[in-house]
Amino acid sequence: MRAGIIGIGRYIPEKVVTNYDLEKIMDTSDEWIRTRTGIEERRIASDDMKTSDLGARAALEAIEDAKISPEEIDMIIVATATPDQSFPSVACVLQERLGAKRAAALDISAACSGFIYAMATAEQFIQTGAYKKILVVGAEKLSKITDWNDRSTGVLFGDGAGAVVLGEVSDDRGILSFELGADGSGGKHLYEKGHIVMNGREVFKFAVRQMGESSINVLEKAGLTKEDVDFLIPHQANIRIMEAARQRLELPEEKMSKTIHKYGNTSAASIPISLYEEVKAGKIKDGDLIVMVGFGGGLTWGAIALRW
Ligand code: ACO
Repeated sequence: MRAGIIGIGRYIPEKVVTNYDLEKIMDTSDEWIRTRTGIEERRIASDDMKTSDLGARAALEAIEDAKISPEEIDMIIVATATPDQSFPSVACVLQERLGAKRAAALDISAACSGFIYAMATAEQFIQTGAYKKILVVGAEKLSKITDWNDRSTGVLFGDGAGAVVLGEVSDDRGILSFELGADGSGGKHLYEKGHIVMNGREVFKFAVRQMGESSINVLEKAGLTKEDVDFLIPHQANIRIMEAARQRLELPEEKMSKTIHKYGNTSAASIPISLYEEVKAGKIKDGDLIVMVGFGGGLTWGAIALRW
């Protein structure tokens, strides 16, 4: 059985924080942030909202979009680097909140690659026939681990959530291939110790190389080439990193999803949020071949080739 996306949702907090707002609290400028990262503004969740609150809203929309009842969900996987607490998991909080009484529930920790890791994990359960419907959520409240005194990281991140329901689809659709990877020796370049600590240049070099490599690798695994790609959904970390991946696939600009200017880097939420926006804008059509590719703390990376 092939696993494909049968419903999609997302939630974006209302509060907009522009680069100009950040100019007032740290030594930075709109010009620097825009030209170095592509970010113009980001959304920040209110103090009383937790990651599970963001995830629940995205999940509800995805379940509604899939036209299923919460009781049909066999499993909930939440990718997040900012869980409400270490346990119970965000997935368990959602299980209760959504009324998904039959669902097994777990969180996955792979930082910004988390959504790809979660999708690939969910796909295994569906492909083997063990489960039929799995809710996969990428949700982050990065503002709670952002150091607002550090201009080198404070300008990059935002809050948000995206969700999909994976279900059985016909053999020519759905997830065709995936690649997951990790290099623990790079953990020192990007980690959380109360707040995000990053060696931006090292992460940048790694990301530029890996995003292109992984995109090509998943295509090869599916017996496809870059000429077959209709749409690229890259992790939205930095427009220059995303552009490098696009150029590696030799895709025109309009074939790459770009939401970073509005939302910044929302870590595990960035890929499902971007996918959602392209789908709802009618840019992704039946039968299109999509490559989703991400990287993040760990260091980790992952990519998926999916036929819509
Ligand atoms: N405003 C103004 N100046 C700044 C800012 C800022 N916000 N941040 C840094 N600078 C300065 C630096 O101090 C430095 O000044 P100096 O030359 O006087 O020392 C100068 O700008 C250049 O700094 P660099 O770090 O070399 O800038 P770079 O072009 O590499 O861009 C950036 C930095 C945007 C962080 C980039 O390296 C990057 O995007 N790296 C990847 C980050 C990333 O994708 N992280 C993923 C996190 S995913 C996750 O798992 C959470």
